[in-house]
This record gives sequence, structure tokens and C-alpha cells, in this order.
Amino acid sequence: MNQLNDIETSALQALESVTDEDALQAWKTAHIGRSSPLMQVFAGLGKLSKEEKPAVGQAANRVKLALESAFEARAQIIKDAALAKSLEEEQLDVTLPGRPAPRGRLHPSTVQLRRMLDILAEMGFQVYTSREVETDEFNFQFLNFPLHHPAREMQDSFYVETEGRGDNPILLRTHTSPGQIRAMRDAVAAAPDPANPPPIRIALPGMCYRYEQITARSEIQFNQVEGLAVGTNITFADLKGTLTDFARRMFGQGARVRFRADHFPFTEPSAEMDVECFVCGGKGCSVCKRSGWLEILGCGMVHPNVLMSGGYDPKRYTGFAFGMGPERQAMLRYRIEDIRYFWGNDVRFLEQF
Ligand code: PHE
Repeated sequence: MNQLNDIETSALQALESVTDEDALQAWKTAHIGRSSPLMQVFAGLGKLSKEEKPAVGQAANRVKLALESAFEARAQIIKDAALAKSLEEEQLDVTLPGRPAPRGRLHPSTVQLRRMLDILAEMGFQVYTSREVETDEFNFQFLNFPLHHPAREMQDSFYVETEGRGDNPILLRTHTSPGQIRAMRDAVAAAPDPANPPPIRIALPGMCYRYEQITARSEIQFNQVEGLAVGTNITFADLKGTLTDFARRMFGQGARVRFRADHFPFTEPSAEMDVECFVCGGKGCSVCKRSGWLEILGCGMVHPNVLMSGGYDPKRYTGFAFGMGPERQAMLRYRIEDIRYFWGNDVRFLEQF
């Protein structure tokens, strides 16, 4: 009985100095664990006489319960202390200003490209995308560039594969115009009667590549948006009306435009469209190089040979096409002086849009 009293007193005393979880577990093993002095007492009960046994057994049980509940109480104290400590140490100062997450934004040529497509969509042009890797046939021949025609020198190409391909090497498209042929052929292929293909009204965006010296004015890669309308009774007046309306929607309802005769192998007649300089209002400034006008696109009536390459009978169908550059228009709009900024990946440039 004395031994039990000692066990209890010294265990409770030891518990007084337990202040963390590790020490608590160590205490548990030492004082109420399998090989603790208290458990030795239980183990030795068998050796006691019948008279002693119940009293000692009861006393041992009482000590065991007392130690267990002291253990629980101490565990709770330690847990509360740990919580209080972490609340104290990990305090959040909700009044601190936040750290702003840098936000991405659209590239200026994407912004301008989307503006163009939005306007064209309002005017009934559906987006059609075509491949960037083309054959000479699609990029040139079907577009009425005769083989070895010097006009090809306007658009020096990046060749992907020439070996064994004769006059039909694989190249990176130099303009979006080969998509005209693909769109027409798709429409013919899908038509219930291929001799009566449906009218077409598409906007054809995408990257183009030219093997050129990179300068402030020309890049080896750039976007174009091609427009193509094919149907019956489409005239040059439709071309002028559509593009004039496009310019007004893009540059403001007061925007004036003019058409100048030009030449492309795949359109006849061909023209370039200028918009009155929106920087100086046509008076002449450095942006329009004193002319009062900004050239923004090439256009024309689809050449009969091109309609034929697309599978449309030029005796019954006519059409117009145009091609323009989002980077060029973005340069005019934002007065960007050097086209090399577009793919330079300089965030100081990109963050301005
Ligand atoms: N493909 C011509 C170019 O890249 C632009 C154009 C398209 C001209 C359609 C007329 C008609 O310069």
C-alpha cells in the first residue's frame, strides 16, 4: 500500500513538469505503461494472500484511474497551450496590402486580329482556318502565279522540302490566299451537287512567312486576314461597299477611303485600299509620310483561273478577295514604329496594351 502511495505521488509530481507532447508520451510509458511500477503491482497481485489481495487490488485500481485522469487533464492543458501558442505566433495581419498577381493580357496583334474578325463576323464572314505549311501549287500555281513567274520574287519563301518534289516544293505559306482555294474546294466537296457549289463568305486569319531581311518595316513572320466572297452577281461595287464599310467600322464612321489600281496575279482587276490618315486627319504627317493616306489592304475580283482552281465555274460565279495585316494596322493604330517589337517578347512593350 505504501508502495502504491509512492507510485502515485511520484507520478503526479513528475506530471507537473510535463509541458509538451513528447514528454507527455514518455510519462505515459513510464508511469502507466506495460512495464511501469504500477503495472508491476498488478502483476504481483497473484502472490498476495487472499485477505490482502482485494484491498491492494482496489487501491491499485484507484491509483491507475487517478493517473489516467491526471494524464487526460495534462494532455488537454498541453493541447490548449499549443493552440494558444500557434494562434499567437501565426497571427495574420489582415490590414497588410496584398501582393498583386501579375495579370496576363492579349498581344496587340491578337487584339487587332480579333477586332478585324469581330467586324467581319458582323458583316457575315465566317472564320475559316487553313494550313500554314503549304505546297507551291496552293501557295502560287492555283493562285495564277505561273511557274517561274517573276512575281514569286515578291514573296521569297521558306522551303520545307524541295528534294524530289519538282515544281511542287513544300513551303511555309507566304500569304493566306492559298486558303481561298482550300475553302472553295471544301465547299465544292461538301455540296450535294458539285456543279452548283454554295456561295462563300469567309474570313481567313493566320500566320504567314517570308524569307526577307528583318527591318523596322518587315518581319519574316506576320499575320494576315484574308477575306473571300464568292457567289453569283458579285461585282466590284460589292467589294468597294464591303471594304468601305469595314474601314468605317474599324476606324470610325467618318473614315474616308480610296482605292488605287494595283496588281496581284490572283485578282483582276486588283486594287489597294487606303484609309485617310487618322493621326493628322489627312493633312499629312510623319505617320502617313505626308501623303494623308495609309495603305491598309490589297484586294480585287477573284481571277477566273483562281475560281476554276477552286472548282467554281467562272462563267457563273464571281467573287472578291482582300488581304490585310493585323500587325500593320496595330502599328498605325498604336503608332508602333518598329515591327520587330511584335515578336521581341519584351514585356515593357507588351504591357502597354
Ligand atoms: N495575298 C496578298 C498579299 O499577301 C493580299 C491580297 C489578298 C490581295 C487577296 C488581293 C486579294 O499581299
